[in-house]
Amino acid sequence: MNEYVIGVDLGTSAVKVSAMDPEGQIAAQESYGYELHQPHPGYSEQDPRDWLYGTTIAIDRLILRDGLKAEEIKGISFSGQMHGLVLLDENGQVLRPAMLWNDTRTTKQCEEIKEKLGDKFIDITGNRALEGFTLPKLLWVKENQPEIWAKAKSFLLPKDYVRFIMTGKQAIDYSDATGTVLYDIKKGTWSKEICDAFDIPMSMCPPLMRSIDEAGTVTDYYSMFSGLKKSTRVFGGGGDNACGAVGAGILQPNMVMSSIGTSGVVLKYEPDANVNYHGALQYECHAIPDTYYSMGVTLAAGHSLNWFKHTFAADEDFTAMVNKAAERPLGANGLLFTPYVVGERTPYADADIRGSFIGVDSMQNKYDFVRAVIEGITFSFRDILNIYDQHGQDFDTVVAIGGGAKSDFWLQLQANVFNKKVVSLTNEQGPGLGAAMLAAVGLGWYDSLQDCAKKFVHFGKTYEPQADAVAKYNDLYKVYHQVYDQTKGLSHQLMKLRNNWD
Ligand code: XUL
Repeated sequence: MNEYVIGVDLGTSAVKVSAMDPEGQIAAQESYGYELHQPHPGYSEQDPRDWLYGTTIAIDRLILRDGLKAEEIKGISFSGQMHGLVLLDENGQVLRPAMLWNDTRTTKQCEEIKEKLGDKFIDITGNRALEGFTLPKLLWVKENQPEIWAKAKSFLLPKDYVRFIMTGKQAIDYSDATGTVLYDIKKGTWSKEICDAFDIPMSMCPPLMRSIDEAGTVTDYYSMFSGLKKSTRVFGGGGDNACGAVGAGILQPNMVMSSIGTSGVVLKYEPDANVNYHGALQYECHAIPDTYYSMGVTLAAGHSLNWFKHTFAADEDFTAMVNKAAERPLGANGLLFTPYVVGERTPYADADIRGSFIGVDSMQNKYDFVRAVIEGITFSFRDILNIYDQHGQDFDTVVAIGGGAKSDFWLQLQANVFNKKVVSLTNEQGPGLGAAMLAAVGLGWYDSLQDCAKKFVHFGKTYEPQADAVAKYNDLYKVYHQVYDQTKGLSHQLMKLRNNWD
């Protein structure tokens, strides 16, 4: 009989499920999209039930369309969009729409956290309080929706909610626990000090588990609902960046991941909890037991390009559009873009900054704009790489995954903007591959994620920096780097007007 694991990649625009065999070969893949609700500037919400239905339908399609047998599915694990708040009542019912990682309504709550705990907060959690994280969201609900808060008995993160419905057990894995900023990264437990400081009952924090540990098996109810066997083992899983890093083979400190999904991430493996970036970068538990990672986040990476396409090139084929941008000259004929279309996180934690095109010229065409968007996203990653430079952290290889790894053009562009060797993967599957690897190790198919990576992760082509392009991008980056400071005041004034007129 064939045997498979399923990696569930619960993203912001869709869920993608990948069935993989013990050799790391993909047997089948399905996905299912869902809506993102942005009722006010800065708000970003989804209905947790959409994640559940989407995941179930996608898994069903593996069985119904792709011919997998339910009894062949031995294990399931997850990669999840991070930080999102799913608030549950005493019966495990969802109390309000989930507030997502890119929801930036919580600036006031972040200020309150800073005022109350100052640097101590960074010492405990490894992170600054930023709008996207879970604790400020809990405080927002407490302050603004007291009737809902009064009923709240626990919270989960997105993938944990789906796992809860599958297994009947509430839990959070360590990599997502760090992203709540309620977790003491050095002690490895929920932080009583932080819970007490903000009057969050410790009982709301669900049990902690490792990414490779078994959360349970499929309940009667979910077995009936999904067609999965009750014997299917369900494993913890991890935050999407931790899983992306596992699937990209980021298992040692000389490697950095560059990932372009809806958000963009530059991530570095860290062997212990002691490197101190003073909150300039996020510091999180890895999905690899007892290891960590640091990262910087561009809030709108793929999202900037998708926004541009929907708005100005809706009828065009995505790949054709990018190919035409590749034919435009380096520097997009003098056009520069900053990807702050939903605010920014790293290095500028600023919910009210907005993007700009600088240097608009009547001789530019649409594909100069597309190229400027792609270059701007890549420059925003260089802003993050600068922080590693400033902290004396070196590495020699960037492994690219996600949208930026889908074309030779963007891979080479990354090598030139970063002035580093960039490597792609031959079986690029994003975080879903990492999730499948967690289930493969959880089932005992492999002794460790490192062992599993030898079978599941295959490095592909290498892109070396090209001296001429590197020099030009160095010059352009110097201009890019000034745009934030020079447009901040204007963006903030516009945001104020917009809020007043709403
Ligand atoms: C990381 C972050 C995003 C989400 C995207 O801190 O907010 O990368 O994980 O799903």
